[in-house]
Amino acid sequence: MSILVTGGAGYIGSVTVELLLERGERVVVLDSLVRGHRAALPDGVPFYQGEVGDRDLILRIAREHDLEACIHFAALAYVGESVTEPIRYFVNNAAQGMLLLEALIEAGVRRFVFSSTCAVYGEPERIPIPEEHPRRPANSYGWSKYFMERALEDCDAAYGLKFVSLRYFNAAGATERCGEDHEPETHLIPNVLAAALGRIPYVPVFGNDYPTPDGTAVRDYIHVRDLADAHLRALTWLRQGGGSLFLNLGSGKGYSVLEVIRTAREVTGREIPMRWEPRRPGDPARLVADARRAERLLGWTPAFPELATIIESAWRWRLAHPDGYPKHQAG
Ligand SMILES: NC(=O)c1ccc[n+]([C@@H]2O[C@H](COP(=O)([O-])OP(=O)(O)OC[C@H]3O[C@@H](n4cnc5c(N)ncnc54)[C@H](O)[C@@H]3O)[C@@H](O)[C@H]2O)c1
Repeated sequence: MSILVTGGAGYIGSVTVELLLERGERVVVLDSLVRGHRAALPDGVPFYQGEVGDRDLILRIAREHDLEACIHFAALAYVGESVTEPIRYFVNNAAQGMLLLEALIEAGVRRFVFSSTCAVYGEPERIPIPEEHPRRPANSYGWSKYFMERALEDCDAAYGLKFVSLRYFNAAGATERCGEDHEPETHLIPNVLAAALGRIPYVPVFGNDYPTPDGTAVRDYIHVRDLADAHLRALTWLRQGGGSLFLNLGSGKGYSVLEVIRTAREVTGREIPMRWEPRRPGDPARLVADARRAERLLGWTPAFPELATIIESAWRWRLAHPDGYPKHQAG
């Protein structure tokens, strides 16, 4: 039996595929390549280029690969873009996500691991943020994930679909094979490293008057390999008959934008120019996870919690792939 990994040619998906293969699992990847890279997948992994909302394709994959479970990464994931193009986000992430669920249920698949996000919480009422925190997304990206979470709860009640919804905080870092290569890049660490390499003239720092020790926004960075590991544990949980869960994935530690830049200067030994920009609307001052539930239920704790280790891994990947993945292999 195989595990369907949607969005497996993307950043977190490709690292999870790598880990699944290392553990001897059979995987099949579905990705539209709207943001992913064919070259992020090792040769020999069954790959379908298509949309998760393509019901016939999902049913075909289920027939051809005897699916046991689905790990659903595929989504558009830029907060700013979701504000200017909300319908695109609702269609791609929520509507297509529902069609995926419909097809999987029809195919008899009852195990589902979902890439959710701390964006479902919106502006936090308390830090660190526990899973019981009210879900009040502040943008269409967060809402599109929230709708999927609601649908999953009802699919559990109606069809016995068991799910683990993993609410990631900020994914960062790389493995030797797989790293972060987005166009455009909106994440801080890859942009800091692009500035270190002189690929962009400076790192924009949005806001210097937040109520944080140095005035810049604080985020919880989690190594992508640790995220991938949590997916395997979630799968084990479901295989052992565990019930549906919502789990935060973070280190529980926050780093400010200036701390990230300072650490990246130490790791790279390079000058990293920065420039102050105004705050971005809807950017909370601090987002830090309370991830104790994932530790208690899955035995999961980050193996690489240190910011310098995370940045070092991303830097190594960037030096080895200064232009990112080979683009000609897409498609
Ligand atoms: N990167 C983070 O820090 C972060 C944080 C919280 C949640 N997430 C979630 O994790 C998941 C993976 O994030 P990522 O950073 O790896 O993003 P990514 O853009 O690198 O990967 C997403 C992949 O999904 C594919 N895709 C998108 N829509 C599709 C569709 N309709 N059908 C088929 N394929 C489609 C893209 O081509 C891409 O390969 C996303 O669901 C994202 O919302 C990411």
